[in-house]
Amino acid sequence: MRLRDKVAIVTGASGGIGQATAVRFANEGAKLVLADVNLQGLEAVARAIREMGGTVAFTKVDVSNPIDVEAMVKLALDQFGRIDILINNAGIIRDKFSWKMTDEQWDLVLDVNLKGTFLCCRAVIPTMRAQNYGKIVNTSSISALGNRGQANYTAAKAGVSALTRTLALELASNNINVNCVAPGAIDTPMVRSMPPEKLATWTEHRIPLGRMGKPSDVASLHVFLASDEADYITGQTIFVDGGISVGL
Ligand code: NAI
Repeated sequence: MRLRDKVAIVTGASGGIGQATAVRFANEGAKLVLADVNLQGLEAVARAIREMGGTVAFTKVDVSNPIDVEAMVKLALDQFGRIDILINNAGIIRDKFSWKMTDEQWDLVLDVNLKGTFLCCRAVIPTMRAQNYGKIVNTSSISALGNRGQANYTAAKAGVSALTRTLALELASNNINVNCVAPGAIDTPMVRSMPPEKLATWTEHRIPLGRMGKPSDVASLHVFLASDEADYITGQTIFVDGGISVGL
């Protein structure tokens, strides 16, 4: 077991990638705190993990709300006494060409993806510093390299990579590793909300490995970066994209 008895918070844990990561972490021996705005989804994931014999708490959290985020951290500390791992996975899209994008669409996507990541990091850092131990994994995207219709999302996800590098520098002397995963096209509800013909074109022409990613492809990287196998890696953004970024 690569995460035996580690305490891990996973945000966006009701969704495709978050759910896969939560289940993998439970299999690897982690004790989990799951967070999402979708409480029903959390209940289902927590039930599945308990049926596997895993240890899990969950709470409804809007990651862009500092009060919710502080309550999430308090739950983790009350239940398990420490926080070893934070997986900042919650994210949303609100796609529109830039000239049609509303202030609300811009603000919402920046608030959840970028500010939410910052708030969750800020909330766990005092505990991780006191422990002199922590693994934080943030979530960027292949879209951070540029993608039509996603001015809000691309800016947020590029910001997450920059935030990751800065936090890695600030926290290195506290033995806290901060890294970032950048998924390509992963088969989850988020991607399934895109037009099917656009997805088919992507798979055929833009993904060198010739298939969409599975949530478990990202979960595998989450396990590695959250484990002590990644002790000497920090500040990195690692693509899980079937090779899309290589040929750009
Ligand atoms: P998803 O839509 O299946 O899951 C996202 C989860 O985040 C959902 O359960 C949703 O309820 C939750 N969420 C949304 N707003 C929230 C908030 N304010 N507070 C807490 N939870 C909130 O999406 P998926 O695909 O699993 O995405 C996970 C992460 O991976 C996201 O950050 C996304 O931007 C990123 N990503 C996904 C890609 C893909 O191809 N699926 C590609 C690149 C990045």
